[in-house]
Amino acid sequence: MPDIFKTPQDLRIYAAKLAAQNKTLGFVPTMGALHEGHLTLAQKALSQCDECIVSIFVNPKQFAPHEDFDRYPRTLEKDAELLKSIGVHAIFAPEVETMYPANFQTTVSVGEISKPLEGEFRPHFFAGVATVVARLLLLVGAQKAFFGEKDYQQLQVVKHMTSDLAIPTEIIGVPIIREDSGLALSSRNAYLSQEERAIANQLNKILISMANDIKSGLPIATIEEKAQQKLLSIGFDKVDYCTIRDAQTLVPPDKNTQHLRVLAAAWLGQTRLIDNMEG
Ligand code: PAF
Repeated sequence: MPDIFKTPQDLRIYAAKLAAQNKTLGFVPTMGALHEGHLTLAQKALSQCDECIVSIFVNPKQFAPHEDFDRYPRTLEKDAELLKSIGVHAIFAPEVETMYPANFQTTVSVGEISKPLEGEFRPHFFAGVATVVARLLLLVGAQKAFFGEKDYQQLQVVKHMTSDLAIPTEIIGVPIIREDSGLALSSRNAYLSQEERAIANQLNKILISMANDIKSGLPIATIEEKAQQKLLSIGFDKVDYCTIRDAQTLVPPDKNTQHLRVLAAAWLGQTRLIDNMEG
C-alpha cells in the first residue's frame, strides 16, 4: 500500500527522506473517487519523477452551499487500492481541520482568467481551488504537479497562480481521458442514470462538430447557437455555456487569437458535465 499521510509534519518527513536520496517528487492533487483519468495523471508523474504522491481531499471551499459537497463520492480505501496497483508511493489525505486550521484567513484570488465560463456560473469556485492548490503545492513541495485538461480553465488558473506567486512547482497539463463513447471521465459521471449517460455521450460529439464547423469557416456565433440548440434538443436540461474561446485567455476570440478552445458545461438533472477540446 502507498504510505498514507495525514499531516504537514508527515509530509515534511517524507520530503526530507526524498531529498536525502536525491529523488524527485511528482504530485497529483485530487478529490478522490479516482478513475482512469486520475490514474493516467499519476502514471505521467511516475514516468517523469522518481516518486509520486496523490492528495485526496474534498475541498469544501470550492463548493457553494447548494452544490454537491455532501454527496460527493468518498472512496478512500478503493482509491488507495487503485493507486497501489500502479505503484504510487504516497497519499496525502488530510482532514478539513488540517487544511484549514481554526482562524485560517487567507483566500487566493486569481484575476481575469478566473472570471469567464466557470467563474461566471460558479463564482466561488476558483478562489476555493486556488487557495487549496496553493496550500497543497506548498505543503507537498513537489518538483512537478499534474492536472487534467478536462478542467481546462482550472489548469490555466493554476498555471497563472503558480507563476504569479513564484511557487516552485512546474504545472503540467495532461490530455483528457475518455470512455469509448467519447464521454470525458469524471467522478461526477457516477451520478448519471443509464438514460442520462446516453445523452451525456453526445456532449463530446457536439464539441467535435463545433471544431469541424470552425474549420469549415462558419461564423462563431452561428456555431455556438447551433450547438446550444442541439444540446437542449437531445435532452440536456440546461446549458451554462457552449462556446469557442481564445485558448490562452478564454475570452471570445478576436483577430489576435492564435489558438481556439471549444468548451461546454451543461446539466443533466442534478449533474453538471463539462468538456472541452482544441478548436
Ligand atoms: O480538479 C480537482 O479535482 C480539484 O479541483 C483539485 C485540483 C484537486 C482541487 O481541489
